[in-house]
Amino acid sequence: MAPDFAPDDMPFHRLGGEARVRELAARFYAHMDDDEPALARLHELDAQGRVSAGVRERFAAFLVEWLGGPMIYSPVHGHPRLRMRHARVRVDTAMRDAWLRCMASAMDDLGVSGEVRTFLDGRFAEVADFLRNAPDTP
Ligand code: HEM
Repeated sequence: MAPDFAPDDMPFHRLGGEARVRELAARFYAHMDDDEPALARLHELDAQGRVSAGVRERFAAFLVEWLGGPMIYSPVHGHPRLRMRHARVRVDTAMRDAWLRCMASAMDDLGVSGEVRTFLDGRFAEVADFLRNAPDTP
């Protein structure tokens, strides 16, 4: 990740370790289910109409690894290949921004602030923009 994060001081550690990162993922999907129905509907849903447990688990494991924690995603699921994994999903500007709103609200819930917040806001915005694969509908 950023060159100024030491191996034992990655965003993963600054956020408070695996339990906190999993909480961040859980809050992220809570906001998606409650506030962004169009975005939620792009995902596999369970019988209650909420984003499925499988998607939640894969994203949480990815976040733990991507933020500098233990490698718990790629040995199980392979290389993240985020653009490929999102190819079947229509990601336009509106969905990018909805995704970023859910993540910002989740970080607010956990009180993520300061240097790590600035860094994460920037990284999430970059990756979400990189995943755009569809023109905006007028
Ligand atoms: C930009 C707007 C985004 C949209 C609309 C979106 C949508 C989705 C959807 C629909 C899935 C479920 C895929 C499936 O069920 O096959 C998914 C999975 C996933 N997304 Fe996103 N996503 C977005 C941004 C991001 C970003 C910024 C990241 C990473 C920082 C990310 C990481 C993931 C991961 C790791 C998975 C699970 C992949 C797997 O199946 O192992 N997504 N996303």
